[in-house]
Amino acid sequence: MNPYRLPDNARPSRYDITLRPDLTAATFAGTETITLTVTESTDELILNAIELELDTASLGERTLSVSYETDTERVHLSDGAPILAGEHTLTIAFRGILNDKLHGFYRSTFEDKDGEEHVIATTQFEATDARRAFPCWDEPEYKAVFSIRLVADENLLAISNGKEIGKRELGDGTVEVTFSDTPKMSTYLVAFVVGPFVETGPVETAGVPLRVIHRAGQERLASFALEAGAHYLQWLSDYYDIPYQGDKLDLLAIPDFAFGAMENLGAVTFRDSALLVDPDTASDGELQRVSEVIAHELAHMWFGDYVTMKWWNGIWLNEAFATFMEMVAQDDWKPEWKTWLGFAPARSASMALDALDSTRPVEFQVIAPHEADEMFDLLTYQKGSSLVRMLQQFLGEEVFQKGVKTYLESHAFANTETGDLWAALEQASGQPVGSIMDSWIFTGGHPQVKVDVGNNAISLSQRRFQFEQDVNDDLWEIPLKIAYGTVDGTKRINEVMTGPDITIDVGEKVEWVLANAGGHGYYRTAYSPALLDSLLEHLDDLDPLERYGLVDDAWANVIAGDMSIGDYLEMLTRFKGETEHAIWEMIVTSLGEIYHTFDQSIDGFVRDLVGPAMGRLGWEPAEEEDGLTRRLRGLLFTALGRYGKDQSVRSVAADLLPGLSGHSMDPEVLRAVIAVSASAGIADYNGFFSMYRDADTPQEKMRYLHALPLFPDPDLADRTFSMAMDGRIKSQDGPFVIGRLIGNKDAQRVVLDRFMGAWDTIVSTFPPMLIRRTFGMLWTATRYTSEIHAFFDGKSVKHADKALAQQLENLDAMTAFRARAEADLVAYLS
Ligand code: BES
Ligand code: ZN
Repeated sequence: MNPYRLPDNARPSRYDITLRPDLTAATFAGTETITLTVTESTDELILNAIELELDTASLGERTLSVSYETDTERVHLSDGAPILAGEHTLTIAFRGILNDKLHGFYRSTFEDKDGEEHVIATTQFEATDARRAFPCWDEPEYKAVFSIRLVADENLLAISNGKEIGKRELGDGTVEVTFSDTPKMSTYLVAFVVGPFVETGPVETAGVPLRVIHRAGQERLASFALEAGAHYLQWLSDYYDIPYQGDKLDLLAIPDFAFGAMENLGAVTFRDSALLVDPDTASDGELQRVSEVIAHELAHMWFGDYVTMKWWNGIWLNEAFATFMEMVAQDDWKPEWKTWLGFAPARSASMALDALDSTRPVEFQVIAPHEADEMFDLLTYQKGSSLVRMLQQFLGEEVFQKGVKTYLESHAFANTETGDLWAALEQASGQPVGSIMDSWIFTGGHPQVKVDVGNNAISLSQRRFQFEQDVNDDLWEIPLKIAYGTVDGTKRINEVMTGPDITIDVGEKVEWVLANAGGHGYYRTAYSPALLDSLLEHLDDLDPLERYGLVDDAWANVIAGDMSIGDYLEMLTRFKGETEHAIWEMIVTSLGEIYHTFDQSIDGFVRDLVGPAMGRLGWEPAEEEDGLTRRLRGLLFTALGRYGKDQSVRSVAADLLPGLSGHSMDPEVLRAVIAVSASAGIADYNGFFSMYRDADTPQEKMRYLHALPLFPDPDLADRTFSMAMDGRIKSQDGPFVIGRLIGNKDAQRVVLDRFMGAWDTIVSTFPPMLIRRTFGMLWTATRYTSEIHAFFDGKSVKHADKALAQQLENLDAMTAFRARAEADLVAYLS
């Protein structure tokens, strides 16, 4: 028995909730009437509530007494007499606080142009924090209809999931706003927001009005979100031919927000930078980020809000699908962004995590609430969506779409488990989807496929891929896509590999083989040196995603000790002529890892590798140049300036510095100049901090915020650390800044001292969900490995235990890599 789970003897069907937030006192009071069915006579009702005072509770005419079970975030209600099976109404009056931890019902603040502070009350309930705002059956399976009323100052805007259907003046300067009933949905999707907001005029899409809700002064930042939101809602309704279930859709920009965004039905909340953007000054990449987040959250209106996982072990059904659909939708809307290719680096990041022993299966047991929160990681999102993509490519796009439509329709307003999805896809495809996919969803890690040729045959073998090699007999059912070259051209084989090895007789001489054709398979490949060489001879015949995979797999093999770093760097020289942004991003990421890990400088190598590509592009974009080429320029400029310590790039950056706030520069160049001048220590630190604080657009703010941790001067790193801790940098941003500071190679000693000294404060003051962001770059601290282990020994952090174990193992892997490869690196570079 899981002590956190509610007994299944009572089911709510409807909540009528009235809430009165007091923005100045940071408290709220509420009343609710819950209509519920008791299925089996019981002595008590058990439901969730935490950090709430229940003043009264009554069941019909009966008064119930309350006992709190704080450890498991539940309350017991009873009057000693049996509560009989049948329908009941439970009425509760309660009070709580508007907390500052960015979860539950919380307080968010902002300063206007005149420096005056304003307060907002807003909610974030996923995974298990609705119970902080009203007592409820706070598990995704207890779906109900919610009728919300908010009492607020008449000058404030009040928003909830449904349309406003009534407004009553209460005579004391407040109004009571009533919202329409929601569809039947889970508690974690309820939202209410009260604050000094401005709304855009509504745009009609998919039969409902769409608005963006923002603060005064942000008017010109809302147009792109309106356009993208209108497009995606309509497109998603059409794609599965299933209507959107809300009666309106608001997209709200919340000044303090733990995540990127949250898919509350009809009232999607965002952090500023994920919603508001100035199309005139933003870069293509920044616009794409906003597009992706909107597409993702709107995909949840079907995947999550309409059909919901039964329990948090199945959260991948929500998040992997929203991530997958975000890309399908965006790829259709803006093919020029090459969404699937652009996703590859995120997939690589998940594979790197998944190469550790401390990885976990995508679907994983969840008991306590903080374990539910820990599920929102690269494995759920990036691995999960990569597996969905692999399956879609294997089954075919149309068959896949049809199966998913059946899945959605047959579980409307209900809850599902992973097997329900496989069943629908098996029905649509006639393929053994469950048996193939279970091996991916329920097994941690992923395989490496070793490739050999000989005697007119291709032989393949699989074993689990891990950075620190481990003996392991896990096997996957791998939907292989193989391409190979013969005298009369390229041929293809699709084959599900179920055993440890197979030999495929092709009856003719094989000149080269690609074991992940199309590049959508979630597995590593390892070729013999001769085979790899023949592939490199055919680079021009490969798709971009296939070329990407070659570099990506090679780099993973280097960290795992299967390939030498010298061979890898030599291989990179074959990519000097590459033009795809995503492939360069992969290359630059690996150069960054080398930069962080080794004492040996690689600046000369970086200049030789990247310089020619930069030279082809020039400092300034050509007229009519496409967005990805502009992004590539920014990326190469940053790589040359940071890892190449390139003097000409640094002096261009220095020349451009005075014009930074003038907006005349290409935004990609501008971003790069900001990063390079900070990391070269030639920028004005105070000026950059003021830009973070005062910039007009969220994207500009972020460019400067991300630059602050790059200043090499340890005193400045120390100051940045202080600002992240004391609130001068917002608590939604501080943990990320600390994370990046740890990656500051020149100031790492100082930063680690500050970090370890502040650890207890970090844990007690930052929003729990953001704690793991503070140690996101601990893997770079390979010079202090044993000290770090000693520090964390015996320390456990709720909400971040798994992430910490993974980070420490990653640190070990990089430390071993450093010891193993340093001599080889020095030899190659000399
Ligand atoms: N459902 C999540 C928000 C969330 C994250 C709730 C973690 C609880 C814990 C939302 O749909 C989401 O996935 N947001 C992402 C952005 C998205 C574009 C990947 C985020 O906030 O990072
Ligand atoms: Zn999501």
